Amino acid sequence: MRAIIPVAGVGSRLRPHTYTVPKVLLNVGGKPIIGHILDKVIENGFTEATIIVGYLGEMIKDYVLGNYKIKVDFVEQEERLGLGHAIYLSRHTFSRTPILIILGDTIFDVDLKAMIALDSSVLGVKQVDDPRRFGVAETTNGYISRVVEKPENPTSNLAIIGLYYIKQPDLLVQSLREIIKSNIRTRGEFQLTDALQMMIERGEKFKTFDIQGWYDCGKPETLLSTNRHLLDSNPLMPTSNDVLVKPPVFVSPEAVVKNSVIGPYTTIAAGAHVENSVIRNSIVSEGAKVADALLEDSIVGSNATVRGSYKRINIGDSSELEFY
Ligand code: G1P
Repeated sequence: MRAIIPVAGVGSRLRPHTYTVPKVLLNVGGKPIIGHILDKVIENGFTEATIIVGYLGEMIKDYVLGNYKIKVDFVEQEERLGLGHAIYLSRHTFSRTPILIILGDTIFDVDLKAMIALDSSVLGVKQVDDPRRFGVAETTNGYISRVVEKPENPTSNLAIIGLYYIKQPDLLVQSLREIIKSNIRTRGEFQLTDALQMMIERGEKFKTFDIQGWYDCGKPETLLSTNRHLLDSNPLMPTSNDVLVKPPVFVSPEAVVKNSVIGPYTTIAAGAHVENSVIRNSIVSEGAKVADALLEDSIVGSNATVRGSYKRINIGDSSELEFY
């Protein structure tokens, strides 16, 4: 089966990091977000993927081709016209066999095999207190009766959380085509949710699948909380004896850490160099240098340098900070 993974977005809430790195390549729990997504897809038996790139797409292509053997088709979305438009652009990469659409800004802890074993199309959902920033699903007699994109007055608190199992991709493509041809936009964009609603009106059956493990990576606080979650289930230890580790942490074997206290909840990526520092609840990205620093709740971009003490920072790639 094929997974369709749209990752064209700019990731503006994660600036400055996303000025130089696309959101899905940000390191969380020891590898890029898209690495977690692809691992999950492969582990669940998928053999093909379509990745829809846009902003800094070449970097995503290089990462995926350099690290994964799964058959991948890349599609470019040049204009940011919405998720529905992105999926429509990728239509030549799938046919009539079912597909799974999996949004690229979230890491899911889900049994995909159970989800796709249902006898209808399926939307991953979660009950949330305030569903207004999501697509929302209403159900009747066990099936979804209506979906609405980011309603001002939601009549259900079941949020659509970015996992869509589509049994009849040709009906989806037909619905997207109609939406685009008739210029039906919601909030200025061609929405996948609007195409799903059209499919429902045409008789396609959708069930909901409750997803509890849903870890957002869209802003610095949620990137750090997702980092915490991933480290909880995958603690790795560095070996050096002048380093005190408070698990869980991830320290890449290709990082150098000296005379420091690392953790809890800290990722030190490959090529990073940490010395005389105390770092907790933070992500130190590829090639970054941290020395003589006390860092907490911080994200240090690739190849950035931090020297001297400070507490909480969010510093982009190739920056330099010295506090002496
Ligand atoms: C998209 C979908 C929305 C869904 C959300 C999940 O919105 O359009 O229906 O609830 O993803 O994250 P976005 O977050 O891209 O605005």
